[in-house]
Order: sequence, then C-alpha cells, then structure tokens
Amino acid sequence: MIDQEMAKIELKKYNQEHIIEQMEKLNNLEKKELLEQISQIDFEEITKLYKNIKTKKEINQTQITPIYYIDKEKINDTEKNRLQENGEQIIKNDQYAVVTMAGGQGTRLGFNGPKGTFKLNIDDNEKYIFEILAESLKKSKKLYNILPYWYIMTSEQNNNQTIEFFEEHNYFEYDKEKVKFFKQGELPVLTEDGKLVIENSKIKTASNGNGGVYSAMKKSKILDDMKSKNIKWVYIFGVDNIMVNPIDPIFIGLTIKQNMQVASKSVAKAYPEEKVGVFCKRNGRPSTVEYIELSEKMRIECNKNGELVYGEANIISHLLTVEAIEKISNKDLKYHVAVKNNLYKFETFVFDGFEYLDDMLVMRVKRDEEFAPIKNKEGIDSPETAKEIYKRKLNI
Ligand code: UD1
Repeated sequence: MIDQEMAKIELKKYNQEHIIEQMEKLNNLEKKELLEQISQIDFEEITKLYKNIKTKKEINQTQITPIYYIDKEKINDTEKNRLQENGEQIIKNDQYAVVTMAGGQGTRLGFNGPKGTFKLNIDDNEKYIFEILAESLKKSKKLYNILPYWYIMTSEQNNNQTIEFFEEHNYFEYDKEKVKFFKQGELPVLTEDGKLVIENSKIKTASNGNGGVYSAMKKSKILDDMKSKNIKWVYIFGVDNIMVNPIDPIFIGLTIKQNMQVASKSVAKAYPEEKVGVFCKRNGRPSTVEYIELSEKMRIECNKNGELVYGEANIISHLLTVEAIEKISNKDLKYHVAVKNNLYKFETFVFDGFEYLDDMLVMRVKRDEEFAPIKNKEGIDSPETAKEIYKRKLNI
C-alpha cells in the first residue's frame, strides 16, 4: 500500500487533485481504505483508456468476413449418436465444468440485486434464475449420474449477496462441494472530463466486463483448481439466459471432432436491429462484433437467399478447453467503452479472447430451445418474453 504523500504525488501527476481534497475530509479508517484503493489503480492504463475514447473506432470492413457454421439440426442421426457418445465421455469422466458469469449489474432490468436472484412467476410457481440454472445442470445427474463442477463469477458488489443466497436456498440441492464462487475485477469509472469519482468515501468502480472472466479465473486460482481436478472442457455462459443448455454432449463431441479449442452456440439473428453480437472472422481469425459496434453494412447485408450475411447471433454459450482459457488469461483483451449515467465505463468482452485462437466452431441451435434472455424490465428480452419461451419448451 502507498502512503498519503505518495498517493498525492500520483494523483497530481494524473490530474486527479480533487481526490486529494476529498481525502483530507475523511477519517483515518476511510483514508486508509481509500489509499488501499488508490494503490490498486493503474493510472497509466486509465489515462490511456480515457484518451482512446475520443478516437473513433470504425470497424475496418475489409478485415471482416462471414464465419462458417454448422447447424445442429442438420447433423444426421448416425453422426449425432457418435458425437453424443464422445461428448458424454467427457461429462462422465468428470472432466467437465461450467462457469456462470453473474458479475453484471443488471441495470437495464432495474432489479436491485444479483440478477440470478431475480424471481420469475411461472404459472403460480415461483422460480429464481439461479434455481432454473441449477435445474438445467442437474439434468446431468439424472442422465449420467454426475454433476458438473459449477463456478460462479460474481462481482465486488454482489459476491456476498450471491453466496448468502445460495446458502439460504441450500444450493438448490446442488452438490455444494462442486460449487465455487470467484470475483471478477473492477475498474474506476470516469467523468466526461476524465476524472475519478468519489462516492461514499470510495473511488467509484464498476465490473470490468464479462471478458474479465479469464483474468479472474487465473487470479483467483480457479484455473489451478480446474487443472488439479483434471477438468478439460468448460462451458461459459451468462446468468441471464434461462434456456441455456449446458449439458449438451453433441456440442462437446462436435467441438472435439472439429479439433477446436473453442466453440460457441449461435441462433439465427431474428432481425437486423436485434441487440446481439454476431460471429465473424477478422483477418481470418475468429471474432465477434458486438451490436453497439456493428456497421450499417454488416447489420443489413443479405446473401442471395435473403439471409443475413452476419446472422449468427451470440447467445453467450461458449465452450473452451482449460488450456485455451489459460492462454487467453495471459493476454490483454481490448477495452470497449460504455456510457452509463454520464460516466464512462470500461469493459472487455469474453468473445474477444477467441481472437487469440486460430479457429473456432460456431454451432447453430434453435432459438426456441436455447435462448430466452432476460435483459430489460419490460418489452423485448424481458422476464415476460423469457417466461413464454420457457413455458412453451416445458409445455407448461
Ligand atoms: C450479451 C453479449 C451479446 C449477446 C447477448 C445475447 C457480451 C459482451 N455481449 O449482450 O453479444 O448477443 O448478450 O443475449 O457477451 N457480465 C458479467 N460481468 C460484467 C458484465 C457482464 O458477468 O462485468 C455478464 C452478465 O451478467 C450477463 C453477460 O455477462 O450474463 C452479458 O452481459 P452484458 O455485458 O450486459 O451483455 P449484453 O448487452 O447482455
């Protein structure tokens, strides 16, 4: 930790003198905590990120090409059975783990708590998102008499609440020994003038985006834990898709057969403006362009059959080898900037890590079977729309 004088020098150097003023007003304990926080901040990096905001990041269209995908529906039955068997082996050998990314703030949902603790009322039957996810994972117990290891990524803000929630609900009868929580990293937010913000005597920070999953797995020794358990394959998914299908041996089998280190499931993009990232290739390497960064051309371009050229939508269902995760965890992912409540927030994205691998498999699945996201309070991608898809699938 740095002392007060050192901190002042650092703050002055990076034009953050207003923090010094605030610091003077704090009591000893608060001051100590603030100094601790300051010593964790990489001011050089923050300054770089701020400078980059102003440079316009147009996608270089000439580098982008469509990506090949395999439609799960079109695989013939003999082949499906073969893939299924190979995938099942991984699960049965206890070499399979899942990671739920639950560190997001869920601002759009307008729910004041970890998203996974949001309760849905499904025909008088109340279910939490985490409960639904636990049920999907428990399918593995029924089918193969084994539960996958379940790692849950939380954030500084919601970690304790998430763990307490699981304790309170007895882990929804999941094997507690197979569940582990880990926290993702944080970065300070900045005002339009590039200033840090003090809130309740602390520098205001926010989660560093779902791409933080790699460094967090390394830092909190989740990767070591996986290696010591001989886990080979990891399915990484977002907390907010209640139709996620993480027990999918065909997907594992196909990824192995294609000799890939990473695979993602896609659904056919429903309409050009849908708020989904799309898979593609960038300079011949696997890539994804997030909806906020899509150019008009990429959004609307159709092939001669009238299908979108960039139509494979990301549903945050990624399968990676532990080796691939480790490789990416040693790289720096690019930052994307978002403006929330007039503050700049910096995030990395999980799929940007795939650019460090030579190739990837994209497997298209049926939207109605695997995609029911809960993002907004009302309207599109809301609890209501997700519930409808869920009920249809379960024939409720
Ligand atoms: C995300 C995808 C988008 C995809 C869409 C499908 C990313 C970056 N974007 O958009 O390509 O088409 O879902 O529904 O993956 N999260 C964390 N920590 C964070 C930020 C997010 O754990 O710091 C988790 C969230 O809890 C959520 C997931 O990551 O489960 C995606 O959240 P968000 O970054 O808000 O992306 P979307 O706009 O939902």
